[in-house]
Amino acid sequence: MLCARSQEKLDAVAQDLRAYGASRVLTGIFDASDIKSHHGLIEKYASELGGIDAVLIAYGTLPDNDSCYLQPDIAQQEFTLNATSIIGLSAQAANYFEKRGGGVIAVISSVAGERGRQSNFLYGAAKGAVSLYTQGLRNRLSSKNIAVVTIKPGFVDTPMTAHVQKNPLFASAQSVGKAIADAMIARKDVVYVPGFWRFIMAVVRAIPESIFKKMSM
Ligand SMILES: NC(=O)c1ccc[n+]([C@@H]2O[C@H](COP(=O)([O-])OP(=O)(O)OC[C@H]3O[C@@H](n4cnc5c(N)ncnc54)[C@H](OP(=O)(O)O)[C@@H]3O)[C@@H](O)[C@H]2O)c1
Repeated sequence: MLCARSQEKLDAVAQDLRAYGASRVLTGIFDASDIKSHHGLIEKYASELGGIDAVLIAYGTLPDNDSCYLQPDIAQQEFTLNATSIIGLSAQAANYFEKRGGGVIAVISSVAGERGRQSNFLYGAAKGAVSLYTQGLRNRLSSKNIAVVTIKPGFVDTPMTAHVQKNPLFASAQSVGKAIADAMIARKDVVYVPGFWRFIMAVVRAIPESIFKKMSM
């Protein structure tokens, strides 16, 4: 079941999946920013599919930080899209899997959620909220056969980063996609993608705030 806001893009991905051998692919129009329309969504898709084993929440935007800083309505819209809507859908999935007796919930957060930086702290705050929420959800559901996988990519070469100068830390979308699928199958907890970001972020987190606040990042 593929959900996104463009039927044209959904049809293209569905066609690819069928070509790769998927026997049944359904699509549904979904606007992440329209939170009211999310009510009962997971149950609705579950009944269309005849049951869901795993949910992957993979959408997001990288907003202009200055616009969010100066215009609270934009900050609210972006936070709603990148945090509140994801929190709501994760909870819906959790509720569904609790009734079903098991499942996997995977959510793409970001290494950006580990430390606030002047260049993207609204996005970072949203990702930090998602990371902390999924951590709490994992704690709540650990005895219920429900895995909650928090995915923390570093730089990934996708349309979101088309404007960013590429450097050796960039990973391809294909390699990150494979790592996400592997993590869901292995029912991992927190996954840095690629794995070296675990060490980079350990160093970033260890920098004392009195020094970090003066760094330009
Ligand atoms: N790229 C990176 O370096 C990087 C790093 C860390 C984490 N991430 C995270 O990885 C996830 C995927 O991002 P990406 O890199 O693949 O970026 P992307 O290529 O820009 O894809 C973002 C996706 O989110 C969808 N989306 C945006 N607003 C939406 C809305 N209101 N309703 C429904 N769908 C909406 C977009 O749909 P449309 O196609 O319709 O626009 C697009 O499919 C995001 O959570 C992002 O924060 C990315």
